[in-house]
Amino acid sequence: NAFLQNPDMVPDMGKRTTMNNLVLASLVPVIASTAGPYAFYFYPKATGGGAGAIQALDALGGPVTTESWFKNHRAKSRDLVQGIKGDPTYLIVNEENTLNSYGLNAVCTHLGCVVPWDGQDNKFKCPCHGSQYAADGHVVRGPAPRPLALAHVADAEGKIQLSPWTETDFRTGEKPWWA
Ligand code: FES
Repeated sequence: NAFLQNPDMVPDMGKRTTMNNLVLASLVPVIASTAGPYAFYFYPKATGGGAGAIQALDALGGPVTTESWFKNHRAKSRDLVQGIKGDPTYLIVNEENTLNSYGLNAVCTHLGCVVPWDGQDNKFKCPCHGSQYAADGHVVRGPAPRPLALAHVADAEGKIQLSPWTETDFRTGEKPWWA
């Protein structure tokens, strides 16, 4: 056996193992990014992070990181990400520059227009038929019949995650109409 007879071969084996590990390590990110969309697709069942949890996505379909959100959004802002079922969803930055623990689904509960935020007036105002919602999404003017739907917002390893709100709607004290 050449290895046993020639001790010089042993360091070579060690080097080769190191090389193999390096090659493997360099492949991992490629595999991880290739698996990304599929991992995302199966995410709700694959983790214990809350049934139906998804990553908030930006306009280009990329995951929204907490760091980038705070770089580009100031206190008291309400801005959109792609949320649960692809619905446009407002992330809220609180006055203390923290991420609010709930987000608001931007789909008007009247006939489904996306409702813009009016920061001057501190309200969401639907351009379609004039419904208005307060900063927490409760209706202040019809014809919208129900408050904007809620979603839980959390940071999951640096990325913003949304999950379905199935608890009592704290604005009405009732069961969530959307669950
Ligand atoms: Fe918003 Fe009608 S769709 S008021």
